[in-house]
Amino acid sequence: MPKAAVCEAVGSPISVQDVDLADPKAGEVRIRTRAAGVCHSDLSVQNGTLLQPIPAVLGHEGAGVVEQIGDGVQGLEVGDHVVVSWVPQCGECFFCSRSEPELCEVGFEALMTGGLLDGTARFSRGGEPLLQMAAAGLFSEETIVPAIGAVKIDQEIPFSSAALIGCGVLTGFGAAVNTADIAQGDNVVVLGCGGVGLNVIQGANHAGAGRVIAVDMLDSKLDLAQQFGATDIVNPTEVDATQRVMELTGGRGADVAFEVIGLEATIEQTLAMTRRGGQAVLVGVPDMEATIEVNPSMEFLVGEKQVRGCWYGSSNTHHDVPMLAALYKDGKLKLDELVSAKITLDEVNEAFTAIENGAVARSVITFD
Ligand code: APR
Ligand code: ZN
Ligand code: ZN
Repeated sequence: MPKAAVCEAVGSPISVQDVDLADPKAGEVRIRTRAAGVCHSDLSVQNGTLLQPIPAVLGHEGAGVVEQIGDGVQGLEVGDHVVVSWVPQCGECFFCSRSEPELCEVGFEALMTGGLLDGTARFSRGGEPLLQMAAAGLFSEETIVPAIGAVKIDQEIPFSSAALIGCGVLTGFGAAVNTADIAQGDNVVVLGCGGVGLNVIQGANHAGAGRVIAVDMLDSKLDLAQQFGATDIVNPTEVDATQRVMELTGGRGADVAFEVIGLEATIEQTLAMTRRGGQAVLVGVPDMEATIEVNPSMEFLVGEKQVRGCWYGSSNTHHDVPMLAALYKDGKLKLDELVSAKITLDEVNEAFTAIENGAVARSVITFD
């Protein structure tokens, strides 16, 4: 009977309790969770920003060890270390065969239902089914995920660092390297330097950006941004951020601007900071009812700006997870520095408060 952190209702504190976990069905694996990052999107389910069926076991960013294999699973063995993907990618559907696996039809279905690929979850309590966030449910000592959502990694990578690859790193690094077209020497601006934004910064550097301007309202996050490779920092509580970005980019605006917060105002600001002909990449997840005001004539026609949505860093998890793990091993990707605090499962509500206060890049729940 694993202990799990359950979101019972929007606005209620997360409750940690013993739950039942069935055996894996065909094509599924049981994972002993070793580490799970507390991402803003977990908080967004609890506060109702992100619509995810509940009650559910939260947690969609994590790593662990394969404990049990369902029928027909190939390529994974008991004892393998894996990173869990919150978009299981089938490799065969319309989107997967067009190199857009982040939109995988099979994975998307699971994401929406709160179950696994057949729409049902493996958790329950008192005989009643209990859903699992994003085909994962990693805020639990054990979980069951689709085998196509578990990607094998090098056993030498610490679990607490590997866990972060599963959401924040794939999303942020991928936004810069996969979604955007960053050319050598480009001016880049990143609005929001949390766990995801810091990875956009390191991804932008990896892609060859020249100037990487970090914008955040907290000086502590701007310090971290510099550590992750930002060349310039802007605090919008002290200066007019758009004006400052214009000054730093020859009056034109950034070649590529990323929004990694998820607010209407900062999305509009991101577009304003993008140069004519540049790209605005939207990574943050706004409230489902959010709308933005945009002057299409000036921005899209005269300005020829592009807006790109970014889902899961446009990542191919089967390719990108091992690639990121290898970059980490070569000392070319910072993961350890993203871990602000290691906590226990019982401290998940405090970790949500820490996100709200902007106190952490990432809190990571470890299971020993
Ligand atoms: N202006 C500038 N910075 C802001 C503002 C603002 N108005 N509002 C918030 N921020 C900063 C915070 O100080 C924080 O550093 O944005 C950052 C957001 O970081 P986190 O809360 O750690 O969120 P993160 O996990 O990085 O996710 C960012 O991407 O995946 C999505 O759902 C996720 O929408 C969220 C976004
Ligand atoms: Zn996440
Ligand atoms: Zn697919």
